[in-house]
Amino acid sequence: MTRIAVVGARGMLGRDLVAGLDDYEIDPFGRNELDITNSSDLAEALQSYSIVINAAAFTAVDDAESQRDEAFAINADGPRNLARTCRVIGATLFQISTDYVFDGTASTPYGEDAVPNPQSVYGQSKLAGERAVLAENPDSTIILRTSWLYGAHGTSFPRSILQAGLSRQHLDVVNDQWGQPTWTVDVARMISRLIGADISNGVFHTTNSGKTTWHALASRLFELAGWDSSRVRETTSETFSRPAPRPAWSVLGHDEWLTRGLPAPRKWEDALAEAWECGLSRFALPEQP
Ligand SMILES: NC(=O)c1ccc[n+]([C@@H]2O[C@H](COP(=O)([O-])OP(=O)(O)OC[C@H]3O[C@@H](n4cnc5c(N)ncnc54)[C@H](OP(=O)(O)O)[C@@H]3O)[C@@H](O)[C@H]2O)c1
Repeated sequence: MTRIAVVGARGMLGRDLVAGLDDYEIDPFGRNELDITNSSDLAEALQSYSIVINAAAFTAVDDAESQRDEAFAINADGPRNLARTCRVIGATLFQISTDYVFDGTASTPYGEDAVPNPQSVYGQSKLAGERAVLAENPDSTIILRTSWLYGAHGTSFPRSILQAGLSRQHLDVVNDQWGQPTWTVDVARMISRLIGADISNGVFHTTNSGKTTWHALASRLFELAGWDSSRVRETTSETFSRPAPRPAWSVLGHDEWLTRGLPAPRKWEDALAEAWECGLSRFALPEQP
């Protein structure tokens, strides 16, 4: 049976990957069990696995601007260590990456082969990670670029918006950034499809399809909660001053799935509707279970 190790397994995505890939023999490694920046520990811990999924990352986008060395250590050196280990032990690495590798100035979906041009330290460190893993083990590395993730755990936009909706009459949400909300469970399903098709290399945009703005997503969440969506007011990115720039256009194309004979990811609206029924709705309740 395929044995899978998930590293960064206590993060938002990592936890839902471990839950969602339960058809496989799968073991979680949190940061305490396996630190990807410590290259000497990796081979022994991972030697019995044929697939390693790297969901570990430095994800604090704004903090990365002032913590460049730590961001690069975790997002570039760590993946390089994992890819090197996977080459030695004969495993395939699934490296989770991000829409932030692009500059966000496009107006059509970024193809898998579009030229990256990250505008933030976080994006630069993640791109360095992509390049490092491909340099170490090009034949057995899959890059999965995802975006606007939400799931059952951790901090996400849907969770923050719903919690804010409980206590505030009006919310101002930007309507000039476009992207693809992506359910962590769908990322697990897309990984499962790649494993089932015995694919071991390539770049895949692992986002739900379609596009929306943060404002439209917040409005949809209010509708799902049965709240008046006019409480969500439009604003622009200019009103939020943050250390790291956010891409205005984070819409990714899915051609590689079709080229490899696999279905393109489903629409974000359908994924959100299922996620709502599967527990996302609890974030709209005052008492967290
Ligand atoms: N969230 C999004 O919207 C989004 C969008 C695009 C791409 N992504 C990508 O998706 C992946 C998962 O993100 P996420 O949202 O699940 O992030 P997350 O919740 O912050 O989880 C990241 C995990 O990595 C762990 N970690 C950090 N440094 C580590 C190290 N040196 N060794 C081992 N583990 C380490 C963290 O542990 P500690 O908490 O203990 O530090 C945390 O559990 C990342 O590659 C991220 O770049 C996320």
